[in-house]
Amino acid sequence: MSSSDNHLIENSRSLNLPAFLRVLTEKFKHVTFSTSLGMEDQVITHCIYTHNLPIRVFTLDTWRMFDETYKVLEATEARYGKTIEIYYPNKDAVEKLENEKGKFSFYDSVENRKECCYIRKVEPLTRALQGADIWITGLRAGQSPNRKKLDISEYDQTNKVIKVHPIIDWTWEDLKTEIAKHDIPYNSLHDKGFVSIGCAPCTRAIKPNEDFRAGRWWWELSGKKECGLHH
Ligand code: ADX
Ligand code: SF4
Repeated sequence: MSSSDNHLIENSRSLNLPAFLRVLTEKFKHVTFSTSLGMEDQVITHCIYTHNLPIRVFTLDTWRMFDETYKVLEATEARYGKTIEIYYPNKDAVEKLENEKGKFSFYDSVENRKECCYIRKVEPLTRALQGADIWITGLRAGQSPNRKKLDISEYDQTNKVIKVHPIIDWTWEDLKTEIAKHDIPYNSLHDKGFVSIGCAPCTRAIKPNEDFRAGRWWWELSGKKECGLHH
């Protein structure tokens, strides 16, 4: 990432969300946004579609998502009259994994879990980001101690793309307010104690005083608990 790109992004940090995203689209040709259809991403999707910003929106369907997530995907497309691009895992890789290790190998070891995340998320992501100059995510500093260290932008060496986190400073309350204000479709699991939502077998609701990401890969008691999309 050049220092002028870095400055532009840093200097735009105080802009509101639509203005910030517009700066990115004016400076860079191929701006793309990955949505997991969680609360964070729904706020960004709403902004992109209502302001008609030239930003590609895609999601990674791991084939293990909750039905509630598939429902919010369709509700979002219907609400905005847009199609969210869906990327799937490589069929042969999933077939091999499940034939050799079964459907729940990820519970057996961190290594197995990372293998599954690689096949279902990380590899499809590399395809989804082909040709992108900018990769927008819904990461927030408040999501985990690891993410607290994040800057608003970083260079992703693996995918050779500038990764930008436009709502890095937003709180969970900010998201809820924005969702309510614009009646943005959201995953109904959020009303049942789920905050960070990934694949169904690897996500549970959290209890009132638990960490934001305690419901992700909850059986792994130590480590960073990242799937490889982010480090
Ligand atoms: S994860 O790496 O632990 O799964 P998390 O669920 O916190 O990530 O989401 C952080 C950001 O990663 C989202 O805002 C989104 O940009 C991206 N992301 C995560 N999962 C997906 C997915 N299935 N499809 C597309 N983007 C995703
Ligand atoms: Fe596989 Fe679970 Fe990772 Fe989803 S979150 S890709 S099911 S290990």
